[in-house]
Amino acid sequence: MKKIILTGDRPTGKLHVGHYVGSLKRRVELQNSGEFDEIYIMIADAQALTDNFDNPEKVRQNIIEVALDYLSVGLDPAKSTLFIQSMVPQLTELSFYYMNLVTVARVQRNPTVKSEIQMRGFGGSIPVGFFCYPISQAADITAFKATLVPVGEDQLPMLEQTKEIVRSFNRIYNCEALVEPDIMLPDNDICRRLPGTDGKAKMSKSLGNCIYLSDDEKTVQQKIMNMYTDPTHIKVSDPGHLEGNTVFTYLDAFSKEEDFVKYLPEYKNLDELKEHYTRGGLGDVKIKRFLNSIMQAELEPIRARRKEYEKDIAAVYDILRADSDRARQVAEATLQDVKDAMKINYFADEELIRAQAAKYQG
Ligand code: TRP
Repeated sequence: MKKIILTGDRPTGKLHVGHYVGSLKRRVELQNSGEFDEIYIMIADAQALTDNFDNPEKVRQNIIEVALDYLSVGLDPAKSTLFIQSMVPQLTELSFYYMNLVTVARVQRNPTVKSEIQMRGFGGSIPVGFFCYPISQAADITAFKATLVPVGEDQLPMLEQTKEIVRSFNRIYNCEALVEPDIMLPDNDICRRLPGTDGKAKMSKSLGNCIYLSDDEKTVQQKIMNMYTDPTHIKVSDPGHLEGNTVFTYLDAFSKEEDFVKYLPEYKNLDELKEHYTRGGLGDVKIKRFLNSIMQAELEPIRARRKEYEKDIAAVYDILRADSDRARQVAEATLQDVKDAMKINYFADEELIRAQAAKYQG
């Protein structure tokens, strides 16, 4: 069986370093591993519209942002298909048939949907479009016969729902048209949930605590120098605490042993640095400067690539258009399999037409 990846993001804002350590970096590694036959990366605009239907301009503006973020981290259109969800209407058609296989109660039990309903304050008036997005996500995944879906932990319930739909479909229509996907989660806790620069649990645009992949060098430096550390660590000689100390969380996520040789040769590794910090005598400015060197080195090639692509934005749209065309063809083939399995093939079935005609003759 072919090894196929599908994953994606809602275009509701620029991507930040949390997205980078949590998913983008991994995607690029998977892409470059050469182990996959096909890789699809989707800009999920239709899904973003399920809770931004009153603000389509926000979604429209962010498509290019996300595309530039993708290209700048090293997703390569020669190896991965980078497409826009709404440009593949077959996904909508698949969703419509899958809706028959899912109960309202089942979607209501989906933990991600549950918490999003709360977060958005929908109360008793949940838009049907929003309610159906787990089903449309199953269409996204199955349309490409994806075998692996690398996503964040919050997407686990979506994958469960997808698997159930695949099993129901193949059983009810007695076929093997759909493929059950595996999920791939980030491999460590820090990468799963990188905190914002203010130490709050999650990076979010509204909290203003994100470091964006598109931030320039100076902005990144300022954000790092203002990072939340340990409020009880006032004098350099005071013992410092690591728990909830954002700079150390980021060092856990970003630093490698080589970085010590390069930027901070007085210490062998992160354990030594942590030990000195907790003992006292190590100032915040020093660890922030160290983190800054590491992050600038990681972000610099991303920025450089972004600059290149920014020179020709029309060409980026051309990539998205060509890749959306390719994605559409693949999804169309799956849609045909699905309709064949459901016997929605009235005009192609001469036997049916003959039998119906015979019934009315006579
Ligand atoms: N739900 C995902 C998110 O919010 C985006 C998404 C839509 C997706 N369809 C998908 C992810 C299919 C993986 C597979 O980020």
